[in-house]
Amino acid sequence: MNFIELVPVVRMALSKEGLVTTSAFENIDSYERLKVSGYDFPEDECVTILPGDDKTAFISALQNQVTPNTKAVVLKGIGAIVNNGGGISKPVNSVEGRIIIVTGGAQGFGGGIAEELYEKGAHIVVADLNEKVGLELIQKLKAKSKSNKAVFVPVNVGDSDSVKGMVEKTVLELGGLDAIISNAGILRAGGLDEMDPETFDLMTKVNYTGYFYCAKHASKIMKLQSQVDVNHYMDIIQINSKSGLKGSNRNFAYAGGKFGGIGLTQSFALELMPNHIKVNSICPGNFFDGPLWSDPEKGLFVQYLNAGKVPGAKTIEDVQAYYEKQVPAGRGCRVADVTKAIVYVIDQEYETGQAIPVTGGQEMLK
Ligand SMILES: NC(=O)c1ccc[n+]([C@@H]2O[C@H](COP(=O)([O-])OP(=O)(O)OC[C@H]3O[C@@H](n4cnc5c(N)ncnc54)[C@H](O)[C@@H]3O)[C@@H](O)[C@H]2O)c1
Repeated sequence: MNFIELVPVVRMALSKEGLVTTSAFENIDSYERLKVSGYDFPEDECVTILPGDDKTAFISALQNQVTPNTKAVVLKGIGAIVNNGGGISKPVNSVEGRIIIVTGGAQGFGGGIAEELYEKGAHIVVADLNEKVGLELIQKLKAKSKSNKAVFVPVNVGDSDSVKGMVEKTVLELGGLDAIISNAGILRAGGLDEMDPETFDLMTKVNYTGYFYCAKHASKIMKLQSQVDVNHYMDIIQINSKSGLKGSNRNFAYAGGKFGGIGLTQSFALELMPNHIKVNSICPGNFFDGPLWSDPEKGLFVQYLNAGKVPGAKTIEDVQAYYEKQVPAGRGCRVADVTKAIVYVIDQEYETGQAIPVTGGQEMLK
């Protein structure tokens, strides 16, 4: 096992009385070097261990030596993992104390989900292409002065190495990974005459392949964690769309990728349930309050008004009312609606391989 694989194993061993977070330091490979680096605790609160080639033997040696008082684990010749504490034995909800990555977490649905999960006590990694907006969100979360952690990690979900790096950075900074919300997505509408192959490829790369990369790299860490604690259930959650349940006129590149995502979800679920990793998609309806629809310059409401797409509409409000009327619940989907579904999915050990509509009744399962 390399250092990145050892860290989540150690974190789970340290989490006997509730999930902790850790900080990992490659090359700090003795109690003395930890002390020099500013970690000052008695030597008997530091476990020193030599990880051999036998993973099972290492895990059981670790579990035997680690106690609730262990402040750090030194892996001889490799590195050190410091226990940052925070173990909550009775979380108030299913996400408190969990380490959760939200891709596309800087703004829109992802930003809102990151903020709401952080409010509920999760340690949040905001992972996004947009570093500026992502860092602003982290500042906003940190200003809440809560004890849970919030970290920004740059990522391009359309690049496997970048997604791998995102997961590794999460492990080094926080210790492991309990859930990933694969939310980053893009929409470029267009019929067959307008859609060029490059745009189709880009959308497929981000919306479909990006979900595969997230599941691939996240599940590797989660599987290691499940070897230490078989009772620890983890989650891969894709933010899909109602367009993953029903075709979307002149929007096939988006709908096709989202339909495909549900195929991935069902297949990953079959593969990963033995490791207690649940895989589900959540299919929101239109998020009218988000930038995609409401941006005053580029939003879909303005675009549809200018294009005369809604007969008789004279204002943005007319366009919005037209679309709201199509939802039995009479309004667009909100971040809180989606977060409730995420919290349910994480809480429910007996739910995997599903595509859960959160559409106010606009789209129903067949
Ligand atoms: N807005 C809606 O009405 C709606 C409805 C249903 C489902 N969804 C889905 O919700 C998710 C979020 O959509 P949104 O409307 O909030 O989008 P948005 O455009 O407001 O935000 C998307 C975020 O993803 C980031 N991003 C884009 N490409 C990326 C990449 N390659 N790597 C990393 N980050 C990247 C962007 O920087 C941005 O912060 C998408 O998967 C979308 O399909 C949206």
